[in-house]
Amino acid sequence: MLDILNHPLITHKLTLMRNKETGTKDFRENLDEIAELMAYEVCRDLPLRPINIETPMGPCIGHELSKEVVIVPILRAGIGLLDGIRRLVPTAKVGFIGMYRDEETLEPHEYFAKFPKNLEDAVVMVVDPMLATGGSAVDAVSLIKKRGAKNIKLVCLVGAPEGVKAVQKAHPDVDIYLAALDEKLNDIGYIVPGLGDAGDRIFGTK
Ligand code: PRP
Ligand code: URA
Repeated sequence: MLDILNHPLITHKLTLMRNKETGTKDFRENLDEIAELMAYEVCRDLPLRPINIETPMGPCIGHELSKEVVIVPILRAGIGLLDGIRRLVPTAKVGFIGMYRDEETLEPHEYFAKFPKNLEDAVVMVVDPMLATGGSAVDAVSLIKKRGAKNIKLVCLVGAPEGVKAVQKAHPDVDIYLAALDEKLNDIGYIVPGLGDAGDRIFGTK
């Protein structure tokens, strides 16, 4: 399933992020706000279980989330989506995957992994602003599956058709959520029109 979350607030904020004149502070703040808006939609199908509670007026059957949520940002840039999602799901646990893309070959390289226990029973959200060739996301999902995760959602800001296809081919069971599906990759593997290098713009490293 590919869900492109068309929403005027997301589109407006993403346009601010795409603008090359937007500096680190505004880039980061808009990413954080979009993450929260996306989380609302991504969580739409989280399972609930009934619980008996007492309101001030008497007994009531309420509902609570029945699965643990685990957010897994792909370092570095995925960190920019973490706080916004956690504001909506404050009980979520957090795992990390460190992955960088070789600038020549565009191949992903893993350099760090740390996960909470019991991924088998959790809804795992893998988050990264950019889905370009899809190499990083495909490897990240494979790694999480090896640790037992069965219910995985991939949440990215901007995707290229090439990256979407790669993930759908390697992991047809994973739902993909995007704020925008862009036109293509350029000859150095960047998304066009995209927003440039997300990690560098979040952390001010270029
Ligand atoms: C970027 C981005 C994704 C990856 C996407 O990270 O945040 O993780 O590239 O490209 P792909 O779909 O072709 O694999 P980068 O490797 O630049 O690392 P960074 O987050 O540390 O900047
Ligand atoms: N990584 C980014 O940060 N931006 C792109 O356009 C592609 C990969």
